[in-house]
Amino acid sequence: MTKTRLILPGRTNALSNLNRILSGPRYKGSKFFLLVDENSYENCLPVVLSRVTAFENAEFLEVPVGEECKSLEIAAQVWGALLESGADRNTILVCIGGGCVSDLGGLVAAGYKRGIRHINIPTTLIGMVDAAIGGKTAVNLEGSKNQVGFFHMPELVCICPELTDSLPDEELINGLYEVVKTLAVADPEMYYQLITTIESGNVDLSNELITTCAEIKSAVVKQDPNDHGIRHILNFGHTFGHAIEVHSQLRHGEAVGVGMLCAMYLSVKKMGLNMEIYDRYRNALKKLLAPPKYSLKDTEAILALMRQDKKNRDGLILCVLLQEVGVPVIDVAVDENEIRDTLLNISK
Ligand code: GLY
Repeated sequence: MTKTRLILPGRTNALSNLNRILSGPRYKGSKFFLLVDENSYENCLPVVLSRVTAFENAEFLEVPVGEECKSLEIAAQVWGALLESGADRNTILVCIGGGCVSDLGGLVAAGYKRGIRHINIPTTLIGMVDAAIGGKTAVNLEGSKNQVGFFHMPELVCICPELTDSLPDEELINGLYEVVKTLAVADPEMYYQLITTIESGNVDLSNELITTCAEIKSAVVKQDPNDHGIRHILNFGHTFGHAIEVHSQLRHGEAVGVGMLCAMYLSVKKMGLNMEIYDRYRNALKKLLAPPKYSLKDTEAILALMRQDKKNRDGLILCVLLQEVGVPVIDVAVDENEIRDTLLNISK
């Protein structure tokens, strides 16, 4: 299995470091194809090209923005374009964009000529701290998210926070929830610092914060690349979150934000998590979004969606809960009445 090298922000710009690596012997003779969407083409590609001269002769492939690009049809079009352009097994696909571009690009790279190398240059916060790292690739099928995919590790992930400069605030906030998630399961000190800044309404997405989350994700993936155990901790807030995302038409991050509230409520009930931690998170969350008010009908609809979760096993709905901040417990079976009770209680 390929090991991923993270290129993190530091004294030297991460893109300049990427350029140094790509100009080395390992990449001699490699042809680069840059996979972009309209947003990354307009807002990020100029920055990337200004720093990475190794991409001077690269070809571009543009795909639709957002989930629309995550289909087998688009994957087939990209495979066709690679073939037509004479891409061989020494070709490197460089995915420049958010999680949708890296999900699609990773799958394309995994399948093309039985697997070519790929590099992720995430341009969203969610990409930098989560989606671009760890080799999960996927497209959607028949309206259902991420149903077809492979594990295919990117060879390099280049994290250059400067690329988020053009992101609208709501997209940064969307990524902030994944930052909270990562710290909640792995770094109590930084978690409480971040909650304090959210409470004050003054969030500073420092390079240190992004780097910490990227390193945590990378370390977890190294221990469990194929997601059989410890990697499940990264799903904190996601069992509720995925269902809430579909039901309440929220952005992924926002839904995970509400999902973490649900998971913390259940953690208080089932794992002895201190109620103050739940209350504090709830107050911080209120600074970012109006917590939804679920009716009995909503709870049944969300429950129905949770029954379909990919992570369920033997008919059980499984959640990641917290004993304490930084002490997650994976695969906790939760019964349907506990889910109903949770959704109604967070709505109070
Ligand atoms: N986003 C969770 C994972 O990559 O495992």
